[in-house]
Amino acid sequence: METKITKLLGIKHPIIQGGMHYVGFADLAAAVSNAGGLGIITALTQGTPEKLEKEITKCKTLTKKPFGVNLTFLPSLNPPDYEGLVDVIVNQSISVVETAGNNPQKWLPKLQENNIKVIHKCTSVRHALKAQNIGCDAVSVDGFECGGHPGEDDIPNFILLPRAADELTIPFVASGGMADGRSLVAALALGAEGINLGTRFIATQEAPVHDRVKEALLAATELDTKLVMRPLRNTERVLSNAAADRLLEKEAALGANIKFEDIMSEVAGVYPKVMQDGQVDEGVWSCGMVAGLINDLPTVKQLIEKIMRQADSIIVDRLREAS
Ligand SMILES: Cc1cc2nc3c(=O)[nH]c(=O)nc-3n(C[C@H](O)[C@H](O)[C@H](O)COP(=O)(O)O)c2cc1C
Repeated sequence: METKITKLLGIKHPIIQGGMHYVGFADLAAAVSNAGGLGIITALTQGTPEKLEKEITKCKTLTKKPFGVNLTFLPSLNPPDYEGLVDVIVNQSISVVETAGNNPQKWLPKLQENNIKVIHKCTSVRHALKAQNIGCDAVSVDGFECGGHPGEDDIPNFILLPRAADELTIPFVASGGMADGRSLVAALALGAEGINLGTRFIATQEAPVHDRVKEALLAATELDTKLVMRPLRNTERVLSNAAADRLLEKEAALGANIKFEDIMSEVAGVYPKVMQDGQVDEGVWSCGMVAGLINDLPTVKQLIEKIMRQADSIIVDRLREAS
């Protein structure tokens, strides 16, 4: 299947693994790229330019295919060394960067002068248009269903994707709720050039997370996510767990007076405890509604091949019969 995204990124299948904190390590990124998709290493999990360089070097030993790096721009009292992280990305000849969070404009010239394609992740059409106007090569349109930060507009992909298709001239991938071949065909029908998966890739053999995280995803249904941090306008979709309940109780009790410091213990520094130590109730962690469609733990290759087979069969058999 050739689309504008496969051609832009030099990949075989129009499937991207979105950056994921404490999940997007070299092992997963390389497995996705080896299977013909685009794997992505998450820069902020590494934290420093030196550690990012090490992870990229490791990934290069695991795959000869293109892979990307996610740069998430968050407001922070102690910002990471973005300059140093970008230098490593450039010096390591990475070909694709997924940006997310704040506007990536400041970094575009340096990245693009070095032939790096920039995909910006957006949760609204107006942000996608902004990304297009500042010169991003593509966008990843993240619907309300998504794991992580869906923004504050609450527009699900059945509306958001065709709205994006109506407005954008650059290619975009559909993100949020993507699970299988049905998702891929639907995304293409709605105007996207491929799909970006987060949660689904955590439930794979190669995802370098504790088994209890994978078990939690297998046990979860589409009803088992919650939106937290809404009063702070930093909404995050997380798996329902004891920490999410505690956090929502605090939010209800503090009302409009809530500050980030009030909830810090439930959100700061929890990812290593959850993802690596398997303490899945220790804090809140991102998870999409797509958990309801996850019932197995395939290898990344099996997952990607199954998505492509199913998409092919829907297009060739079902849709042709119906037309
Ligand atoms: C555990 C987890 C951690 C994530 N961390 C990040 C991150 O650090 N930066 C980022 O841009 N997106 C992050 N995301 C969002 C994903 O890249 C992707 O956009 C999202 O998961 C898509 O929705 P889905 O989970 O329904 O597939 C994370 C998602 C999950 C599930």
